[in-house]
Amino acid sequence: MEQCRIIIFTGKGGVGKTSVAAAHAVKASDEGKCTMLISTDMAHNLSDLFMTTIGRTVKTVKENLTVLEIDPEYEMQHEFSEMMQALYEMLPTELGNAQELLMIPGVEELFSLLKVKQLYESGKYDLIVVDCAPTGETLSLLKFPELLSWYMEKFFPLGKLAMAVMHPISKPLLNIQLPNGKAMNDIERFYLELNDLNKLLKNREISSVRIVALPEKMVLEETKRNYMYLNLYNFQTDGLFINRVLPKNANAQFFDEWHKIQEQYINDLENAFEGLDIRKISWYDTDLNGIEALRQLYKDSFDDEDLFAVRKSAESERFEKTDEGYKMELYLPFVDKKEVDLSEGENELIIKIGNYRRDIMLPSVLTKFHVAGAKLENSVLTVKFTEE
Ligand SMILES: Nc1ncnc2c1ncn2[C@@H]1O[C@H](COP(=O)(O)OP(=O)(O)O)[C@@H](O)[C@H]1O
Ligand SMILES: [Mg+2]
Repeated sequence: MEQCRIIIFTGKGGVGKTSVAAAHAVKASDEGKCTMLISTDMAHNLSDLFMTTIGRTVKTVKENLTVLEIDPEYEMQHEFSEMMQALYEMLPTELGNAQELLMIPGVEELFSLLKVKQLYESGKYDLIVVDCAPTGETLSLLKFPELLSWYMEKFFPLGKLAMAVMHPISKPLLNIQLPNGKAMNDIERFYLELNDLNKLLKNREISSVRIVALPEKMVLEETKRNYMYLNLYNFQTDGLFINRVLPKNANAQFFDEWHKIQEQYINDLENAFEGLDIRKISWYDTDLNGIEALRQLYKDSFDDEDLFAVRKSAESERFEKTDEGYKMELYLPFVDKKEVDLSEGENELIIKIGNYRRDIMLPSVLTKFHVAGAKLENSVLTVKFTEE
């Protein structure tokens, strides 16, 4: 069996994510690939799309195609109760801050991603297609495993975990008693799971994100922003689908103006996302419902042989040795350097842009190094580190 691929679809609400994701899934299954289509959008609509009842348990809708509308609470209780337990044990009530973790949007959805990982690990599928909620929610979803690992690393440094399991110790700094051995085991396992999940989503041979957009001003701006944040969190984007393009032969003068407007935004998107695999999808005269409509959609717009291969692999963030020390490079398109707020924490680099923040754990070789300078040039953020 070939390597299982995970393709995650994102984009602004209503742009056609579910349709494009489902058309990918139908195509893969038509090719004989064992395919799973999962919706993590709480406002599920796969049932409407396939015109059958789909729910929180896996359902086959055609040969080689199974679908699932994830219910994170159900998953939490039925599949991941041990992990939920670990999460609670990790958060003693004294630890006010960490208690707030449970309030952070994303904890529930985390279980959707753990489900994706579980399905991946089952080894049953050639392709897993993930249909996500609109942009903002998807970003919180995707950044969450890393964020939570980061919290855990802070509160329970991994190196100390193994020791703590044998000799429960108190951490005076936090003024809490570490949980007992059994709980620590659960926590350690949870931590490892999270790390694996994060690695899986960021593995550029396996996982990629595809963005769906419309040729409209509002969507253009959000799409660029979304792409920038996906890069900030080091996710690989390997495709852009411009949906609802008016067909050339749409008659009537009424459309002339719309053709011009669309053309302008198609140009803008193509220029902005140059280098990315870009597809245009026609605006159909009816909604896209049912397997036949989805088949038509992929046949018209993305019927290539290797649609599911990773289409483009931009460099991921990387650390490199230099003459003066080290440097980190991160691809960050469409952002003004005035917007980027960098700060240095203990063994971490904090990047804030708009309402988003990422804490990048620095490799241990950098323990004695400090940020000596940073620049943003040609969409690449370079941060230099030198020894104190
Ligand atoms: N190219 C298109 N032509 C006509 N209708 C479309 C097209 N793309 C999507 N639709 C319709 O638009 C609606 C929203 O699409 P959907 O895929 O559910 O968007 P999203 O998942 O991004 O909210 C659906 O009714 C769908 O059938
Ligand atoms: Mg949708």
